[in-house]
Amino acid sequence: MQRNFVTAYGLIRPALFAIDPERAHRLTIRALAIARGGGAVPRVRPVTIAGVEFPNPVGLAAGLDKDGEAIAGLFGLGFGAVEIGSLTPRPQGGNPRPRLFRLAEDRAVVNRMGFNNGGIDAALERVKTARRAGKLAGVLGINVGANKDSDDRVADYALGVGKAAQVADYVTINVSSPNTPGLRDLQSRPALDELLTASNAARTVEGRRVPLFLKVAPDLETKGLDDAVRAAIDNGIDALIVGNTTISRPDTLRSALAKETGGLSGAPLKALARAKLAEALAASGGRLPVIAVGGIDSPEEALARLEAGAALVQLYSALVYEGPGLVRRILKRL
Ligand code: FNR
Repeated sequence: MQRNFVTAYGLIRPALFAIDPERAHRLTIRALAIARGGGAVPRVRPVTIAGVEFPNPVGLAAGLDKDGEAIAGLFGLGFGAVEIGSLTPRPQGGNPRPRLFRLAEDRAVVNRMGFNNGGIDAALERVKTARRAGKLAGVLGINVGANKDSDDRVADYALGVGKAAQVADYVTINVSSPNTPGLRDLQSRPALDELLTASNAARTVEGRRVPLFLKVAPDLETKGLDDAVRAAIDNGIDALIVGNTTISRPDTLRSALAKETGGLSGAPLKALARAKLAEALAASGGRLPVIAVGGIDSPEEALARLEAGAALVQLYSALVYEGPGLVRRILKRL
């Protein structure tokens, strides 16, 4: 089924582009959700992080399948890892629509979804069902966030980490969404130390210490990124994901929708993401694996990030423009 979806994508893309982006996204999730999955994920350049073996270094970035509805179908595209979420303790509706914009001329996306999700408990049930049915063909990451109206965000993360640790192969702490006011303040010290201490206390379930990743914004200045790397190392975090969408708007953008508020992703994020990867690698000095995300849209770009020193890569927006066959095209070139 997913092979059919991959082949058909070129044909149905114009139809998907003609409708509202959020509806197109829903339809895509539904198509992937009815895909059977199954079969092995391609084993190419496997990577081990904190004891977890990734069968290949190409992962799906968080936000496409927030609620874990299409996990098997997504592994069917060839991803070595699928990261679901961001998930919050309580379900929340997110921002008013429209909140997702296709910048077609720029091969980019702007979103201000605002952590719309059905809550972590419902998603964990889906993951458990998929695991029992043997449908997790690769590594399953769970990305956690805080509810917008929470009066204790650190407690939200700790709760999310503790729950996700029961079923995930790794858990990501996302403090980098631009669409929850004040969330990114958690990236600076000492807030980060408090957050990571609480998350560390929650990560061990039945004697197993689940790998914990931290996802930061590409908008951190060199000093801020350096601080985040240090905090991650000092607190025993297993990998840094660099990074989320950007609130910046490169002046190369042509689409009128570029002025919409939210996080920019896709091709125009490439230069910033490369620069921040280099900075994070320099700051880590080999002490912390760095996962590269942002504007990866070709086998060449994926390879360049890995050769620059990234442990893994993740992508999302390029699936919209290049189609879901991109994953296997990258794997063939590794
Ligand atoms: C995202 N992204 C995201 N990240 C995250 O940690 N939690 C989330 O809930 C979301 N949600 C989300 C929704 C939409 C519509 C988009 C486009 C993106 C960010 C994503 O994981 C990734 O970091 C960026 O999109 C940059 O990668 P690409 O898209 O340029 O490959």
